[in-house]
Amino acid sequence: MSLPHASSSLPDASRLVHVDLGERSYDIHIGRNLLGNLGPLFAKMFGGAKAAIITDKTVAGLHLDAVQKSLEASGVETHVIVLEAGEKTKSYEGLTKACDAVLDTRLERGDLVVALGGGVIGDLAGFVAGIIRRGMRFIQVPTTLLSQVDSSVGGKTGINSGHGKNLIGLFHQPSLVLADSAVLDTLPRRDFAAGYAEVAKYGLINDPGFFAWLEANWQEVFAGGPAREEAIARSCQAKADVVAADEREAGQRALLNLGHTFGHALEGMAHYDAERLVHGEGVAIGMVLAHEFSARLGLCDPSVTDRVIAHLEAVGLPTHIGAIAGEKPTSDLLMDFIAQDKKVSRGNLTFILTRGLGQSFVEKGVDPSEVKSFLEEKLA
Ligand SMILES: NC(=O)c1ccc[n+]([C@@H]2O[C@H](COP(=O)([O-])OP(=O)(O)OC[C@H]3O[C@@H](n4cnc5c(N)ncnc54)[C@H](O)[C@@H]3O)[C@@H](O)[C@H]2O)c1
Ligand SMILES: [Zn+2]
Repeated sequence: MSLPHASSSLPDASRLVHVDLGERSYDIHIGRNLLGNLGPLFAKMFGGAKAAIITDKTVAGLHLDAVQKSLEASGVETHVIVLEAGEKTKSYEGLTKACDAVLDTRLERGDLVVALGGGVIGDLAGFVAGIIRRGMRFIQVPTTLLSQVDSSVGGKTGINSGHGKNLIGLFHQPSLVLADSAVLDTLPRRDFAAGYAEVAKYGLINDPGFFAWLEANWQEVFAGGPAREEAIARSCQAKADVVAADEREAGQRALLNLGHTFGHALEGMAHYDAERLVHGEGVAIGMVLAHEFSARLGLCDPSVTDRVIAHLEAVGLPTHIGAIAGEKPTSDLLMDFIAQDKKVSRGNLTFILTRGLGQSFVEKGVDPSEVKSFLEEKLA
């Protein structure tokens, strides 16, 4: 049993996206220079509670001060836990460290964890909140584009195991998400572009109008004009709609995996080495492969793939396997990773395929030999 979430409205210029999940519902606040709103929002929603801010070293150096000052100015007692930056923190070791540090603060079950960082911190801190004292509430303050449009929304939390990514975890919804688009000004361009792959994904899943809007406005999204907030808000709304309809991925939530089965295989092949490939880049290549594979099956016109490639290339994302530095994978190696993916049942593979731009669907009966010969062609 978790504590109820309170209403989060505050009179300001931010956009609100509501995630409708009954008693687990919450709001996502999106806007420029919003970090200062955290204290007043916290005090209004959770008056009297304390906060443990979990962050990483890089983000701590850039944005911790603003967050901590805002909370303290509103009378919220804060404790800060700073972890190493990077995917390795989403591990048993990172989990132990973070849990013990939260317990050291003597916070109680009614207090909150604040996850300040990218998807690594959000996934880990959300999981920590979910298991400490059988469930504390938590707030997501995502600081990467990927975490603002994807990982901070929807309640998937967890860590990696030696057996694979995200295998240990919980569904645990945050009580509030605060996405300040200005914090993305300090994000390296490559990380911004990687997060943008997930933004484009929402267009390719079921919103061709959004994809066309991105083709026309992506420069302003990158530059930090109002189109950035628009892109974040539309992405969050798209994710909120899917999550509200299928919180635990019984069906349609799987659409969010467009490009991810191929993408995860490429990440695995590159040993999750961020120098070679980061998640969003794998997703970009994976989305192109999903379109090409759909075309090969006669489902989708090849001109759609050309349009997808043109846009992803325009923003500087890789679009083919050959763009990944280092040794080329074999189709056998990629098939091994694909078979290990969670989306396998009775020998058939589940893929997100498409019938056209923004017309994706879940296909559970994909014959592995078709995928293998497709990959062999791509690698030839
Ligand atoms: N829970 C979900 O639904 C979900 C969805 C997608 C991805 N994920 C997970 O998210 C993780 C990837 O997230 P990510 O791409 O945000 O990675 P990340 O959290 O590792 O952040 C990337 C890098 O950017 C730095 N950084 C963060 N904010 C910054 C800022 N404002 N300025 C400068 N540097 C900044 C971080 O310190 C880190 O070095 C993966 O572990 C993935 O599995 C989860
Ligand atoms: Zn993703």
